[in-house]
Amino acid sequence: MSSYKLRDKKSIWHPYTQMLNAAEHIPIVRAAGSKLYDENGNSFIDAISSWWTNLHGHAHPYIAKAISEQVAELDHVLFAGFTHPGAIELAERILKLLPENQTKAFYSDNGSTAVEVALKMSIQFWRNKGLRKNRILAFENAYHGDTFGSMSVSGRGAFNRPFNDQLFEVDYIPIPREDREHISLLAMQDLLTKRKEEYACFIFEPLVQGAAGMNMYQGEPLSQLISVCRINNVLTIADEVMTGFGRTGDLFAVDSLSQKPDMICLSKGITGGIMPLGLTTCSENIYEAFLSQDLSKTFFHGHSYTANPIACRAALASLDLLLDPVCTQNRNFINQKHLAFKQTLQDNGTIENVRVTGTILAFELSGEEATGYFNSRRNYIYEYFLDKGILLRPLGNVVYIMPPYSITGPELDEIYSAILKLASSPIAKSNIYS
Ligand SMILES: Cc1ncc(COP(=O)(O)O)c(C=O)c1O
Repeated sequence: MSSYKLRDKKSIWHPYTQMLNAAEHIPIVRAAGSKLYDENGNSFIDAISSWWTNLHGHAHPYIAKAISEQVAELDHVLFAGFTHPGAIELAERILKLLPENQTKAFYSDNGSTAVEVALKMSIQFWRNKGLRKNRILAFENAYHGDTFGSMSVSGRGAFNRPFNDQLFEVDYIPIPREDREHISLLAMQDLLTKRKEEYACFIFEPLVQGAAGMNMYQGEPLSQLISVCRINNVLTIADEVMTGFGRTGDLFAVDSLSQKPDMICLSKGITGGIMPLGLTTCSENIYEAFLSQDLSKTFFHGHSYTANPIACRAALASLDLLLDPVCTQNRNFINQKHLAFKQTLQDNGTIENVRVTGTILAFELSGEEATGYFNSRRNYIYEYFLDKGILLRPLGNVVYIMPPYSITGPELDEIYSAILKLASSPIAKSNIYS
């Protein structure tokens, strides 16, 4: 075992990892473009953008230069009583890109906290208006993060079971899958009729539910749900932590909606995947409900690293790259390659439910065992791709590609070819590992 591996084992407790029997963690010492390099010089194509964060490739020189200039200029300043040019410019630029109804930006430092902020804002919005609305609507199997509020609005399962007694009550409706849109609409209407005036907000991952297994659905039925919420005085929150900044094709998934949400949560790709940052935006009427001589109506929420200047500067540099026409071309290129590969995959008997939204391609390896995160073929699939120099972390038997936008054609082809080999291997055809 290398010295890094030994030292890691001795002192580190890794996320989402059963440490009793975890494989050795691979020490990564360098990254460039779509590739990560280990201590022995082996490379891995990052097919999942480092937990869905990276947009323009690793160690991008333009973002690296911006950060190094920033750190020498202004490293950090508390964000209550003080502000800084980077945070102002970033809020202005992002608000301009979001739907017109988004007028204020509230900073935090990761995806879960961006969601916490939106949930707290919605509940307090109604309190400040003298109304007690305590219930929340969400989609079944949603994933919104790992803090208590974001766990509460996520689907209930193994990830949050130990905390179930501590999570607040949420009512779930199914996502509006194709041909089942009416079920979702009826479920929402039913709940809103039964518990009139009790719902503070409806939170959703627009177009793609990530951790649930890259479940994809269309924008129009979601717009209908948003519209029903609006009629019933329920605030709507689009959790774009994963979908934001071009993943679904448009700059934001909400761009494809005819009805716009009241709040939007952003993180992950916001800095190009280089620094942690969270942002929750809201409409003017939400902001105004907190303006009062009565101090108790203040939004008392903040984090030490809220709007960190280095993170904001990384986000500004990432935005420059995102808005360059080359980036749009790259995203279209990935989308076209995925769509062509989808055709090839569809003819393969061991693969089911191939789907593409923007730069994301996903499918299931068929089999008798239920689809899901704990499907026993997960570890095999993960090791299989690592062995081929590809980092592709499946969600159980759901395999997906969500590459950095800078990925090259040959790199994508290498991933596709490894997928085709997997599809024709014994593991894809049987459940020998279950
Ligand atoms: C839709 C969505 N919301 C929130 C989160 C939580 O983000 P973070 O891991 O930065 O806390 C995630 C993370 O995967 C996510 O996919």
